[in-house]
Amino acid sequence: MNREKNNGARLTLAELRSDILGIDTRVPLLDGSERPYVFLDNGASTPTFGRVLRCISSFLPWYSGVHRGTGFKSRLATEIFDRTHDVVARFVGADPANNMVVFTKNTTECVNKLSNRFGFAPGDLVIATGMEHHSNDLPWRKNAKVLHVGTQPDGEIDLKELRSAIREFKGRLRLVAVSGASNITGICPPVHDIAEWAHDAGAPIFVDAAQLAPHRPIDMLPDDDKRHIDFLALSAHKMYAPFGIGVLVGPTAFFEQGEPDMVGGGVVDVVTFDEVVWKHAPHKDAAGTPNVVGAIALAESLSILQSVGMETIADHEHSLLRYAYERLKRIDKVHLYGPTTDLGNKVGAIPFTVEGMHHALVAAILSAEGGIGVRNGFFCAQPYVKRLLGVTKEEEREAGCGTGDTDRTATPGMVRASLGCYSNEADIDWFLEVLGRIVRREYKGKYIQDPASGAFQPEGFRVDVERYFSFFEDAGQVKDRSYSEAS
Ligand SMILES: Cc1ncc(COP(=O)(O)O)c(C=O)c1O
Repeated sequence: MNREKNNGARLTLAELRSDILGIDTRVPLLDGSERPYVFLDNGASTPTFGRVLRCISSFLPWYSGVHRGTGFKSRLATEIFDRTHDVVARFVGADPANNMVVFTKNTTECVNKLSNRFGFAPGDLVIATGMEHHSNDLPWRKNAKVLHVGTQPDGEIDLKELRSAIREFKGRLRLVAVSGASNITGICPPVHDIAEWAHDAGAPIFVDAAQLAPHRPIDMLPDDDKRHIDFLALSAHKMYAPFGIGVLVGPTAFFEQGEPDMVGGGVVDVVTFDEVVWKHAPHKDAAGTPNVVGAIALAESLSILQSVGMETIADHEHSLLRYAYERLKRIDKVHLYGPTTDLGNKVGAIPFTVEGMHHALVAAILSAEGGIGVRNGFFCAQPYVKRLLGVTKEEEREAGCGTGDTDRTATPGMVRASLGCYSNEADIDWFLEVLGRIVRREYKGKYIQDPASGAFQPEGFRVDVERYFSFFEDAGQVKDRSYSEAS
């Protein structure tokens, strides 16, 4: 496994940017030209660090099943895989003596697992907020009664209401579930304060860190600290390591209790036709063959982020946000949602709409005429987005939302530009340039809306997949994979 080592030197933000796979990739525009892609959809999934790809490339010759093999490669792979757990625990400040790291597919699976493992009794209450991603809402609704604490018109959680609800439901309250950062407005609630309120009421806290972990340092704090985070989840595909892995961190004692939610190989000590004896944690919650490569990719990515420093990343994103908002506020007819002045307490998500234009049209033009990747719609947080937009129940009905109506022509929504640690001012400049053209209606294409999805497609422009990618057998020979292959 000979690979570059950093020899203790810290990576710089510039080195991070140049290591992003595809940073210079040119994409076609509607007018037939090409330009380097500007990726502003990091809130959904980030691109990959080249170092992560090189790391797994150097591991793969040693790849082998873990925990149950006796061969050298299996023993080595097991040792490396086990160490990935420590890297994750360190990254989030979890005490490995009392806490464990469970690998899943993604944050959604983490929340479902936790909800299924919680052992809720009828009448048990989870307090969540009106800010949550559906993945930190629906899994709780499945197994418990959920109280959604309100948000203010500017997107902030009503913290007074949250605190008094936690106090009021002491006894019945089993868990407080809250985002570490909103995927819409980027707002970071004071999770350690909320943890203290929850603990005073005898309940643990779960923090959905899918959006927080890529942007800010996290410290779950010692277990005996009142402000300690009990459970936390994150997704590697939002952290420059998109190889199908997520992480749930929580107290080992919690996972020792109850039955695993998923059963099969790896979770049992004894099986007879009549009896099953579960393994101890952490194995009990790791059914089947684990995603060893995904875990290694995540651990490498977390080490890279720590080498740059999460404070450095947070400062960089904060100054980029300031740069973007100063300019955005000057563009007439662009409506911004969430904080626009106090930007220190939000991660790099910029939600907006353009007056008189459908959000999907704005997103389509940014892509076809600017080569800019953003996202539009509700971003899996329908209640929050509708509240920010001030959509009334009546308007929802008229637009067909909530009725299962298949005509989405008038479904409300927003556009979101979201930053990564490698984003820079040039990305923002180009985004604002194209947005300015859109606002002034200086775009060139004709865009046709598909009523079933609500999406707009530019006339005469299609994605020619074969030009950019093919599988081995399509070409009948090994293709040139120059930029995507680890060197
Ligand atoms: C705040 C938040 N929570 C949870 C999720 C779900 O993450 P995943 O799709 O990786 O399960 C997302 C994804 O966008 C998110 O932004």
